Amino acid sequence: MPTLHPLSRRRLLTGAAASALAMTIPPRLAAETAADGFRVIRPRPGTAQLLAPDRPATAIWGYDGTVPGPTLRVKRGEEVKVRLVNELPEPTLIHWHGLRLPNAMDGVPHLTQMPVAPGNSFDYRFVAPDAGTFWYHSHLYSSEQLARGLYGVLIVDEPEPVDIDRDVLLVLDDWRLTPASAVDEATFRSFFDAAHGGRMGGHFTVNGTPRLTIPVKTNERLRLRLVNAANARVMPVRIDRHRAMVMAIDGQPAEPFAARDGRVMLAPGSRVDLFVDATLGPGARAPILIEHNRGEVPIAEMAYDTGAPSRPAPRGDVRPLPANPLPERIEFHGAFRLDVPLDGGMMAMMGMRGTMGPGMGPGRGAVPGHGIDPSARIWTLAGMASSGHDGPPMFSVRRGRTVMLNFINRTAFPHGMHVHGHHFRLLSRLDDGWKPYWLDTMLVEAMQSARIAFVADNPGKWMLHCHMLEHQETGMAAWFEVT
Ligand code: C2O
Ligand code: CU
Repeated sequence: MPTLHPLSRRRLLTGAAASALAMTIPPRLAAETAADGFRVIRPRPGTAQLLAPDRPATAIWGYDGTVPGPTLRVKRGEEVKVRLVNELPEPTLIHWHGLRLPNAMDGVPHLTQMPVAPGNSFDYRFVAPDAGTFWYHSHLYSSEQLARGLYGVLIVDEPEPVDIDRDVLLVLDDWRLTPASAVDEATFRSFFDAAHGGRMGGHFTVNGTPRLTIPVKTNERLRLRLVNAANARVMPVRIDRHRAMVMAIDGQPAEPFAARDGRVMLAPGSRVDLFVDATLGPGARAPILIEHNRGEVPIAEMAYDTGAPSRPAPRGDVRPLPANPLPERIEFHGAFRLDVPLDGGMMAMMGMRGTMGPGMGPGRGAVPGHGIDPSARIWTLAGMASSGHDGPPMFSVRRGRTVMLNFINRTAFPHGMHVHGHHFRLLSRLDDGWKPYWLDTMLVEAMQSARIAFVADNPGKWMLHCHMLEHQETGMAAWFEVT
């Protein structure tokens, strides 16, 4: 069972003291492990050089004061033991995105645990059931806490070594900054953002830096682990002049396939693992780009060594990553089926002016600790607007039953629908066949539908929400129960 450890008052930082500290103490880079084997992670204020070195650094909130937070790494089947020690001036907690873990460890405020107050701590302890690329982030005031930098990556290694030469993590974000390079706090809780595509920023970072150099040698094989940590931006990523094989999506191995035009699309919250063979000659350079405003922004660069190739020819065909223990079959007979229309947003609200009233932006007002003002419920899921952790469940099913959800996006915006505690299949349009991969976050384009199916085999109370965090916080969230 999780336990709370009240800490001495000495550790309780006020906002002002915390920022003063952030200016004088460099980010803690070394891992801190407690005597009982828990990896201690301290969300706290810090600074990051998000822009070019000639621009000012940015005050952020990060796990251990860094963005991304420390990369945690375990082997499949090993235990993750993390002690969250809150050194922020407000409550927080950690959600482990994409992990099929016991419900009590899921880190959802009120639904699975109470928020961790400043100065308090919480122990997360669970076995990592699946190998792959996962991430962790705050799930409280998510729109603000993630925009400030509270996220990190959890890599779960395959039981056997994988056939690659380099393992490269690329955590993508877009920041909305002021001209002085500060996180733009004035537009937190912006009604406009919430009613449109969500909070987006014009400053792209990879692993918290504006441009990453990836050293490679000719004929090496790279595993690129892409993570979209942005609040709301869908990231189309392209690797110039290289063939990219999609090996895993949302942490789970896929039947390998070549990304069309070397391009993959990541909804907020999604991950894609690519194998890329370095087939250019010594000294070559190839950018990795994000499509933006009909152009492309380089975010990283493969920089080839000028020396001899690592081997005479690239490695041969890729072998699929070893399977994780996911259900091999999904029984559709007797499945629980539900249509889930997605409604709301600016276009839909034109006709509802009378009920909205002036100046009703999303705020922290009326529901204590929920980060949402009920008067600003802009979006609905299956006809209901919720914080996702109050009110009745969207549905309740017996453990082991198949759940089929039909997301019907009737809005003018894409939504990245995320299911907690389970991975699901994307069903084809015409029959009940499915795509050769698993997902935990499904991008449903404007005015499109998508049908998913999963075995509800993980008991507990699980959230189901849009991962555009401003949508999540203004109604596009729900929870379901597996009994
Ligand atoms: Cu990545 Cu409910 O979240
Ligand atoms: Cu959305």
